[in-house]
Amino acid sequence: MHDFLTRLPKAELHLHIEGSLEPELMFALAQRNDVVLPYASVEAVRAAYDFDDLQSFLNLYYQGMAVLRTAEDFFDLAMDYFRRAHGEGVVHVELSFDPQAHLSRGIGLDVQMEGLTRAMRLAERELDLSTALIMSFLRDRSAEEAMQVLEQAAPYWELIDAVGLDSAELGHPPGKFAAVFDRAKALGLPRVAHAGEEGPASYIREAMDVLDVCRIDHGVRCLEDPALVAELIERRLPLTVCPLSNVRLKVVERLDDHPLPALLEAGLTLTLNSDDPAYFGGGMLENFLACQRAFGWSEETFVALARNALEAAFMSEARRETLLKRLAAVSG
Ligand code: ADE
Ligand code: ZN
Repeated sequence: MHDFLTRLPKAELHLHIEGSLEPELMFALAQRNDVVLPYASVEAVRAAYDFDDLQSFLNLYYQGMAVLRTAEDFFDLAMDYFRRAHGEGVVHVELSFDPQAHLSRGIGLDVQMEGLTRAMRLAERELDLSTALIMSFLRDRSAEEAMQVLEQAAPYWELIDAVGLDSAELGHPPGKFAAVFDRAKALGLPRVAHAGEEGPASYIREAMDVLDVCRIDHGVRCLEDPALVAELIERRLPLTVCPLSNVRLKVVERLDDHPLPALLEAGLTLTLNSDDPAYFGGGMLENFLACQRAFGWSEETFVALARNALEAAFMSEARRETLLKRLAAVSG
């Protein structure tokens, strides 16, 4: 099964590139940029990754990204991840980034975009890895600031595949960003949003109805509202589920308790993703393997999940056709 899950052409739709910062690279970049880290060693960083909830993770996540200062840093961050993902049989990566978390530290959008897009181009050339870029807004900051960032990104609209919504969910319902997402829609930008990770099922409905999203990030709390589940199924709206993330952030206590089997049984369109692999104990392959161990899923189930991701991905139809064929070859 390990070989099969490695060979399976996996598309990753929910990945925060800043959450792929491994402690080794964090230390290397800290040294390069003369940033003082509050850790004595790589081991001390890993030991600190013991989270109670989403906020306790976000505190370290925003602290860790302080080492990212130059375009070269963003390039190294993304390339480091692309190489690891490629080694795990990932064929397509949609990376979210949090521009406000860098702008607030005085790092310009030009710096962020140069580094990330240069790595995306190199990965496409060298690793045959297709990529897409999702610009995410921090929901615990104001909607006005998000709107400003969207307008400031005008020179890069062509390079952005979608906008997203992340950070601390509770108390920051999707409706707060209605005007920002309306503007993105008017610009022709697809929309996704985190909803129903820690927040209630009503946030999923709001993301769907008010933000008009084409995917829900997480969405695992939809089961609390059967009418919502029925609508998600009818619309075939994909959920980008992140199993190891949900365990580490205590959305569930153990993977065995995860609603994934129930979500699958209900007939929802699911995909498996890593969220913040450097913080949550593994990338795509480890998430697939953990589900295999916890739920004993068949090869057919994993093929169906991989197909859902390819069908829901932001990629050209030619690329989708190529990857679906590769999936069919692996599934024999
Ligand atoms: N930003 C990075 N990871 C996140 C997550 N799991 N939920 C919300 N915001 C995030
Ligand atoms: Zn996320």
